[in-house]
Amino acid sequence: METPVSTEDIRTRVGIVGAGPAGLLLARMLQLNGIDSVILERRSRAYVLSRVRAGVLEKGTVDTLMQVGAGARLQREGIRHETFQLRFNGEYHRIPMVDENGRYLTTYGQARIVEDLITLREADALPIHFEAQVDRFEDVTGNPSIHFTEGGVAKTLRCDFIAGCDGFKGVSRAHIPGTAEASYLREYPFAWFGILADAPPHAELRGFCHSRRGLAVASARSAKISRQYLQVPPDFAIGSMTDEQIWDELDRRMDDGSGNRLNRGPILEKSVARLRGFVCTTMQYGKLCIAGDAAHIVPPSGAKGLNSAVGDVRVLAETITRYLQKGDAQLLDNYSQTCLQRIWPTVHWSCQMSDALHMFPGQSEFDTQMQYATLRSWMTTALGQQRFREAMLGLPYPV
Ligand code: FAD
Ligand code: PHB
Repeated sequence: METPVSTEDIRTRVGIVGAGPAGLLLARMLQLNGIDSVILERRSRAYVLSRVRAGVLEKGTVDTLMQVGAGARLQREGIRHETFQLRFNGEYHRIPMVDENGRYLTTYGQARIVEDLITLREADALPIHFEAQVDRFEDVTGNPSIHFTEGGVAKTLRCDFIAGCDGFKGVSRAHIPGTAEASYLREYPFAWFGILADAPPHAELRGFCHSRRGLAVASARSAKISRQYLQVPPDFAIGSMTDEQIWDELDRRMDDGSGNRLNRGPILEKSVARLRGFVCTTMQYGKLCIAGDAAHIVPPSGAKGLNSAVGDVRVLAETITRYLQKGDAQLLDNYSQTCLQRIWPTVHWSCQMSDALHMFPGQSEFDTQMQYATLRSWMTTALGQQRFREAMLGLPYPV
């Protein structure tokens, strides 16, 4: 039997924890700046590629992916959205989603972004370790090292800098002192049940539908594959609804009196995500920075999580580059503050969207009418539409 090789002395400049959109994009940006990195990902390659999750991209996210050479398929297959559809209380609103700078939203699956970035990294034969579980860091203010387990063997990655891109449940955040006191959480009393279906998206039935049975969302991944969400209780069991019941429930919630019904087809994937707002206001300690879901979570109704991760990574790539190449720590010292400038208003928007779109347990008729008033002001007034468009299209990146 072959003895496992100890790789105690793996060395790189930047150790990146997590091969989600944040970790992969950061690795690519550092590569283009001439900085080596190693990515450690606890899941298998197949698992990472099959995780469906997000789909709605701000123009800034699309532009960033294009700039790093990861936009070829996105440009070919991304679905451009120039209008936004919202249904509530028997009303149907469709508002323009292109701003004065020509910005619009694009639908393109997170799984594809991840695949595009992994393909690029592998084509350049750069290191990415799947099924490598990071356990802990050491000496993040001096000579950092990352301790991880791969194939049952304990290993160490020594590096000059650690980027914690390991999502909400990762280990990185806990290595920053005081994060428990510097973190703020809002838990929503519901979850989103998401399905991916081998059924063409309906040309007319798109977007959000506020209904008394709970929110329904109809989105797309391609001309043939649709993506839908249902608001469900937080303890919802995936197996508790048959496929037919899922389609029936979507139809009931999306019924706008037009007689239109979603196209049905085999359901390819089902998942449930709890809704939370979470911000950790300390995103840096010594030579450790956290980015993306590791630092903040937004309820998905604003479609901002991945877009916010991209915003952080743009700042982080520049921060690390200046620090490692020029010894300039100014961006590093300001890292949390720079990211949070964009994060807090984005969290605020995502929470406003959640508050206005979902049915809360025990919600009164008064509350429902307040929601209609909010939604109507966003859809029918010039100022409201402008606010809605600005928030959905995304805030400018910090300079
Ligand atoms: P993640 O994607 O969570 O990646 C973290 C990685 O770190 C994972 O691969 C994980 O396995 C790995 N990891 C964790 N711990 C360890 C460890 N100890 N060692 C090694 N690796 C580890 N956002 C949008 O912008 N638009 C949308 O339309 C949108 N829709 C969404 C819909 C749903 C239903 C959900 C659930 C989310 C949605 N989001 C959306 C949010 C978006 O999916 C996330 O914000 C995004 O995945 C964050 O990327 P990340 O790289 O920061 O974290
Ligand atoms: C998606 O297409 O996955 C999607 C759409 C709208 C959201 C979130 C996700 O708010």
